[in-house]
Amino acid sequence: MGHGLLNGKNGIIFGALDNKSIAWKVAERCVEEGANIVLTNAPVAMRLGEINELAAKLKCDIIPADATSIEDLENLILGSMEKFGGKIDFILHSIGMSVNVRKKKDYTDLNYEWMKTTFDVSAISFHKVMQTAMKHDAMNEWGSILALTYIAAQRTFPDYSEMAESKALLESFARSFGYHWAKKSKVRVNTISQSPTVTTAGSGVKGFSDFFGYADKMSPLGNASADACADYCVTMFSDLTRMVTMQNLFHDGGFSSMGMAPEILEE
Ligand SMILES: NC(=O)c1ccc[n+]([C@@H]2O[C@H](COP(=O)([O-])OP(=O)(O)OC[C@H]3O[C@@H](n4cnc5c(N)ncnc54)[C@H](O)[C@@H]3O)[C@@H](O)[C@H]2O)c1
Repeated sequence: MGHGLLNGKNGIIFGALDNKSIAWKVAERCVEEGANIVLTNAPVAMRLGEINELAAKLKCDIIPADATSIEDLENLILGSMEKFGGKIDFILHSIGMSVNVRKKKDYTDLNYEWMKTTFDVSAISFHKVMQTAMKHDAMNEWGSILALTYIAAQRTFPDYSEMAESKALLESFARSFGYHWAKKSKVRVNTISQSPTVTTAGSGVKGFSDFFGYADKMSPLGNASADACADYCVTMFSDLTRMVTMQNLFHDGGFSSMGMAPEILEE
């Protein structure tokens, strides 16, 4: 049941591929809370994924955009403002992809051209989205911009490979650009560091299912689900969190504060 937390707000949601995607759940919750949204994803995801189903269900538009292409992003930002008949209140960046992980390259034998693509898709795209939105003065005052990240930015998770550095870069962009957005128009920029979640991107990491169980035991509240993440995103887009900016916010059932969990030793 919605509470009208996003009544009258306009938002762009990147990254809904299928009904397991975190962005899919966020899109559903935002509409439930009264928002008007535009969905976007890479052109290839239009063919492979199920985003058309989501758009039909939520009665919203899709504007395809490769998040690494400035031309696509300009088309997306300008097209969204045209559809909304006004500026944008919130943006969710829910994009991640590692070429070296996909091609099963070991961390000590990475291909650097692939690494550049990984950083471009997973992190630099966040800067590109914000730069394009700023250039077109596309955000309303007190708007909110979020990206999804993972704790491998701060701690070592060997199988996460070059995605760790991608997330560190992503989180740094939130802090650095957050300053400029706050000064320009009181827009806040944050990252949400989410528990392991069973999705296409998540399951691509080696040993994911064993690790999912480990993290669940390590977290006193258990792993946070995609639905719970969607609830958190809604609060971050709402007017209830206006003074929170330039933060990396852990949404992980307590995982990030744990040292050891007796539950794991009991096995
Ligand atoms: N699943 C997890 O365990 C987990 C944990 C923490 C953070 N995250 C983060 O959550 C975000 C969403 O991932 P997810 O788990 O929902 O998986 P997902 O596979 O459903 O979503 C990833 C999305 O990125 C999109 N994408 C890839 N390349 C793109 C490009 N060039 N332009 C535009 N979009 C592109 C894909 O089409 C897809 O929709 C990612 O940033 C991911 O790193 C996931």
